[in-house]
Amino acid sequence: MSAPSVLVDAALEVHGITKSFGGNHVLRNVDMSVSPGSLHFLIGPNGAGKTTLFNVISGFIRADAGTVSLFGSDVTGERARKVARQGLARTFQNLQLFASLTVAENVLMALHGQMKGGLPRAMTGLFVSREENREYERAYEWLDRFGLAKYASSMPSDLSYGDRRLVEIIRAFASQPKVVLLDEPAAGLGLSARANLFDVLKELHAGNMTIVLIEHDMKFGMALADEVTVLDVGTRIAHGTPAQVQKDDAVIAAYLGKRSVADA
Ligand SMILES: Nc1ncnc2c1ncn2[C@@H]1O[C@H](COP(=O)(O)OP(=O)(O)OP(=O)(O)O)[C@@H](O)[C@H]1O
Ligand SMILES: [Mg+2]
Repeated sequence: MSAPSVLVDAALEVHGITKSFGGNHVLRNVDMSVSPGSLHFLIGPNGAGKTTLFNVISGFIRADAGTVSLFGSDVTGERARKVARQGLARTFQNLQLFASLTVAENVLMALHGQMKGGLPRAMTGLFVSREENREYERAYEWLDRFGLAKYASSMPSDLSYGDRRLVEIIRAFASQPKVVLLDEPAAGLGLSARANLFDVLKELHAGNMTIVLIEHDMKFGMALADEVTVLDVGTRIAHGTPAQVQKDDAVIAAYLGKRSVADA
């Protein structure tokens, strides 16, 4: 689609997104604006529609109404691959690694221009160019950053669940995206992996990466966030800075008896 976008200064602009599954209204007229280089925290109780919004933004499902734009370019209704080529990477609530490739190869696949030419030759044992060697080094550097270089030649199934999640997160960042959507990246991580993830996200954020984070660990997300969008039963009930959102009456009410945002 070629409709002009609403705001060219947003990294990601979501406007009026509406989605039903059968009679179940999962998203109602949702807006979200993510500034370039910001870390945007998307929260809401279970079933609020957070993952569905990620699915719409990343082109995995089509919304019934509304628009999505990336740096002023309208990507509404585009397929996932095309949205990825425009610079959007995401992780999933459930793991999506290639089970038959090593950990380093999994990262290499992400580095290799979103799989434009099949398997990188570095993985086939054939002649490798200097550029492909550099990609291999970069894959190691990413693994090292998360303390996982020692698993480069391991198969994903040899890693703990937490470490496999980290590999998936590395894959998202290694594709050199402009915007990254992280769906509950800290879920299932032990304390040290969680602290490590926190530090790396902070560092990437400081380096101007635009990140949208879904996370049930409020302390984790609020400490990183510049801005917060709150969904409840498919509706945006609040948005603002962490301080503004945490004292918002509608937000506190939505979380009462569920999970306390005020205690974060
Ligand atoms: N493909 C689908 N078909 C039918 N219903 C769906 C589909 N995907 C999501 N839903 C429904 O949409 C609602 C919102 O789900 P969603 O996964 O977006 O919530 P969420 O905010 O990510 O929740 P959680 O915090 O538990 O991950 C739920 O009621 C869910 O059952
Ligand atoms: Mg979800």
